[in-house]
Amino acid sequence: MQGKARTVAMTTQPKTAPKTKRSKTVTLKDNQTDQSWSFPVLEGATGPDVVDIRKFYSETGMFTYDPGFTSTGSCDSKITYIDGGKGILLHRGYPIEDLAEKCNFEEVAYLMLNGELPNSSQKRQFEHDITYHSMLHEQFHNFYSGFRRDGHPMAIMCGVVGALSAFYHDSLDINNPEHRMVSSYRLIAKMPTIAAWAFKYSLGQPFIYPRNDLGYAENFLHMMFATPCESYKVSPTLAKAMDRILILHADHEQNASTSTVRLAGSSGANPFACIAAGIASLWGPAHGGANEAVLTMLNEIGNKNHIPEFVKRAKDKDDPFRLMGFGHRVYKNYDPRARIMSRPCHEVLEELGIKNNPLLDIAMELERIALEDDYFIEKKLYPNVDFYSGIIFQAMGIPVTMFTALFALARTTGWIAQWQEMIGDPLQKIGRPRQLYTGETKRKFLTLEQRT
Ligand code: SDX
Repeated sequence: MQGKARTVAMTTQPKTAPKTKRSKTVTLKDNQTDQSWSFPVLEGATGPDVVDIRKFYSETGMFTYDPGFTSTGSCDSKITYIDGGKGILLHRGYPIEDLAEKCNFEEVAYLMLNGELPNSSQKRQFEHDITYHSMLHEQFHNFYSGFRRDGHPMAIMCGVVGALSAFYHDSLDINNPEHRMVSSYRLIAKMPTIAAWAFKYSLGQPFIYPRNDLGYAENFLHMMFATPCESYKVSPTLAKAMDRILILHADHEQNASTSTVRLAGSSGANPFACIAAGIASLWGPAHGGANEAVLTMLNEIGNKNHIPEFVKRAKDKDDPFRLMGFGHRVYKNYDPRARIMSRPCHEVLEELGIKNNPLLDIAMELERIALEDDYFIEKKLYPNVDFYSGIIFQAMGIPVTMFTALFALARTTGWIAQWQEMIGDPLQKIGRPRQLYTGETKRKFLTLEQRT
């Protein structure tokens, strides 16, 4: 970066004793001009306070600078809270451990959208509504047939989800709460069908339609693995494991793809276009694409004896290789979702009679070695949600190229809940970050003849 360094001191008013709860401010002092400015500090329900810098530019004439938004809050939200230091993940205040153990995915989706867990009649109604929105318009067959059979499922999902907006003109008014809710239901309901059909298309097998007598996760596995030639019963163990994995991937605060959905939605774009944008962002290997990259990495490692060489490469600054499935922008402790994932992992392997899974053996040895290595300890790099999910998916017979599509399927619930929250926020406005300009300043134009 070519910007000139200059320091401004920021001091906070001392925390007042609780009895005289005065609003807290921070003061910024420019060490060159001696100018100073104060900005309010906003306190949330828990977690770090924030400095309200909405007037920063108008008062100081400067921008703040935070590429990657490592220290920037983009919004206030009530949906998900993460304490990265303690490895805590709450959805609407409920620990992920409780939700994964005691709820099904539909309950968690209802919680994300409505802020409360459903009672039994609300649960029944929500499951009915989602079930009866799970079919795709028959013309969607034409979208799939336009793709190559070996096209990546995420490319198909980006295209097909974006195309949904061409079919639902009756519910695109984002200022109409009923339109917002029916679009949310449609997206949550149709994602399993869209993802499963991408898989069937890649196989050259006929599409399997959703069934109204099956639950969300079970319906998805049925559409993935049934054929018209014989009846297919989804294993309850696999359905439960898939249901739990979907819960673990449902939402995660303001991650890259959720921030993409919010930014797209801030311009007033329709929800189908916003979710398509989220799918595109999730596809990256640094984000949701990591589950696919973990399997590629484990296969590249090949056996436990090669692990030290790959750990060495991951620590080498000159080598772009990173241990996929390790590290996290927020978690500087174990990702609680990775911990929970190990249970369905072993349940699925046992159900399928897979006594020894070489990739799981490599993964567990890699985890053991990395967690004892000073580099990973010092940088607080732990396994994240993507480290084990791929092993379960592969054991279930799901191809590597479908892993991120499953992540997108689950995350649609979080994306649409966050989109709803943003659209419903009276303070929301179009997102428009600024920059530190380091390019050429104004210069004289040269004609073609003058350019040597
Ligand atoms: C998800 O944000 C979310 O919530 C995302 C997610 C969700 O549910 O939405 O949780 C899902 O995306 C999980 C993350 C999946 N990605 C991977 O597993 C890819 C591998 N991980 C890394 O690319 C990385 O850890 C990130 C992208 C996840 C986080 O990167 P950050 O926060 O920008 O951290 P960084 O790149 O600045 O790394 C800090 C240091 C660096 O070394 P230094 O420059 O300080 O010397 O740690 C090193 C990095 O080189 N490092 C790694 C590493 N991850 C970070 N070194 C080796 N292997 C790794 N995996």
